[in-house]
Amino acid sequence: MGQARERQEVVWKESEGCMNIRTHRCGELTAKQVGQTVVLNGWVQRRRDHGMVIFIDLRDRTGLTQVVFNAERNLTVHQAAHSLRSECVVSVTGQVMARPDESKNPDLSTGDIEVFVDKVEILNEAKTPPFLIEDDADVTESIRLKYRYLDLRRPRMQRLLSLRHGIMQATRSFLNAEEFLEIETPILTKSTPEGARDYLVPSRVNAGQFFALPQSPQLFKQILMVSGVDRYYQIARCFRDEDLRYDRQPEFTQIDLEMSFVDREHVMSLMERMIVTVFREAGGVQLPTPFPRMTYAEAIGRYGSDKPDLRFDMPLHDVTAFGAASAFKVFKDAATKGGIVKALIVKGGATLSRTRIDALGETAKSFGAKGLAWLKLTAEGQLESVIAKFLDANAFAAALPEAKPGDLVLFGADKPAVVHDVLGRIRLMLGEELTLIDKNAWKPLWVVDFPMLDYDAEQKRYVAMHHPFTAPMDEDVALLDSEPLKVRAKAYDMVLNGSEIGGGSIRIHRSDVQSKVFDLLGIGKEEAASKFGFLLDALEYGAPPHGGIAFGLDRLVMLLGNADSIRDIIAFPKTQKAQCPLTDAPSAVSPDQLKELRIKLDVVE
Ligand code: AMO
Ligand code: AMP
Repeated sequence: MGQARERQEVVWKESEGCMNIRTHRCGELTAKQVGQTVVLNGWVQRRRDHGMVIFIDLRDRTGLTQVVFNAERNLTVHQAAHSLRSECVVSVTGQVMARPDESKNPDLSTGDIEVFVDKVEILNEAKTPPFLIEDDADVTESIRLKYRYLDLRRPRMQRLLSLRHGIMQATRSFLNAEEFLEIETPILTKSTPEGARDYLVPSRVNAGQFFALPQSPQLFKQILMVSGVDRYYQIARCFRDEDLRYDRQPEFTQIDLEMSFVDREHVMSLMERMIVTVFREAGGVQLPTPFPRMTYAEAIGRYGSDKPDLRFDMPLHDVTAFGAASAFKVFKDAATKGGIVKALIVKGGATLSRTRIDALGETAKSFGAKGLAWLKLTAEGQLESVIAKFLDANAFAAALPEAKPGDLVLFGADKPAVVHDVLGRIRLMLGEELTLIDKNAWKPLWVVDFPMLDYDAEQKRYVAMHHPFTAPMDEDVALLDSEPLKVRAKAYDMVLNGSEIGGGSIRIHRSDVQSKVFDLLGIGKEEAASKFGFLLDALEYGAPPHGGIAFGLDRLVMLLGNADSIRDIIAFPKTQKAQCPLTDAPSAVSPDQLKELRIKLDVVE
């Protein structure tokens, strides 16, 4: 900013007579400038009319300055001030004065001073905005997005834009110092295999054919390793046509990178250093190191999630053996038919009302459970529950010694996937509701040893947990033929406060192994050749061992900026319905445009 100001001063001197170019920003003046004549440019935040004295708060990206139009000092400017409305753009020239002690504002960087105006120029008028340009303005999201240019004028939004910029700059400078090359990859490309639906773009020149927008630069970055680039990165736009959530956008940004001649350890340790550096430099946050590591099996077993929130503990306890030996049919059946019984202990939860517990049961059902059995431990250590008659208090105490008098215990009994998912989500819900989550804590971790494959019961075939280019662990390769679901992948996810902020893997660098994995995934030779043939070909020309990762930039900004919605940290985001209220995209196109593309619409409702 210092340099920019110098430049502006030069402009100002050269264009003598033009007094309206600012000498300072609206958040900069302090007691140091008292007595100086200054020029400020900005927007009128608000006007307060006290008769002989009119105040306005003048705003720009850097903050506010109180500006005073005093009739005794200058009648002309005082008259002019009457016409200043909110969001008018003005230039004021005046003298910096110290505020009397009683009117100093310690909440404002410029709160010690005010500027007495000698000249005012209205640079532009403004219509009355549909909402106040303030952080706590009461306004719906659709109005905010329609008038995004006004929404972005609010101080919080300016802070988030600036934080996003800071994170990108810190990332670039870290990776540049580590000798990564920033390389752009195509946006008009072929379908990539991240697993979501593609956005398609029709080709005019090749009628009837479509480009796909990239779900990630995955294949190109691997090809760059074959090209000998050695270390690549890109702050890359990715497109995925999937159901949107609070932390998902159809168009989002990854910090994407790839490295040659590395193993998991290299990638993980460098990336841990990068994230620690970026959080420190861009957000002033010191993350605790080293990041703990947890296997996928541990994360699912203990927290019911592959992105556990470690800001509170409340683990899932395995009580399958107790369930099997009990007289409660639900537990017994689950435990003897290949399922499991797990318990969540809610410390001091015996005070929760029956209505609240029943509501939790309904929530569990909405998550896919058949029910949510519960019991309370009385002060005397007795079991209090509708199912108490089926349970033995001593056996329970032996099975779950962590449960103490005054606690509530919730149970899930079902197939492991259902129990883990439901109890994992109930755990998170209770963590929020009972304020067990330390909102000031930063709890990063690595989740490793993911299974390579999952079985998709609907499609009746194996699918890749990460993507089809992820290498199996060397010691598990032999299992690829016999027990594919037991094969672990050289994959890793970075998780922070319950959010998956990044994921990557060491890749398959041999075309024979890659072909075998395609076979397992039910991707036939022809399909593999037509979809990924260029990668398979490239792997045959001396592909180095390589691996990488991609971080969700938007999620990093959300976490560091303490934003609840991904839409708050993207300048021009899409709504939940994947629309842009500002531009009204997507929209119909003209018949001529369609004709050029040789496309006839037959929209099926
Ligand atoms: P993956 O699909 O796990 O991996 O994506 C990497 C990271 O991107 C973020 N992310 C999203 N952020 C916002 N909106 C979305 N719709 C969205 N989808 C994903 C997440 C996620 O951790 N090519 C691989 C990476 C690799 O293997 O190197 C990939 O894209 O934070
Ligand atoms: P029921 O015998 O079906 O009336 O259920 C008794 C209690 O067990 C209720 O609190 C149910 O919510 C609970 N319950 C039923 N099925 C399950 C299950 N699969 N896992 C956990 N609790 C269950």
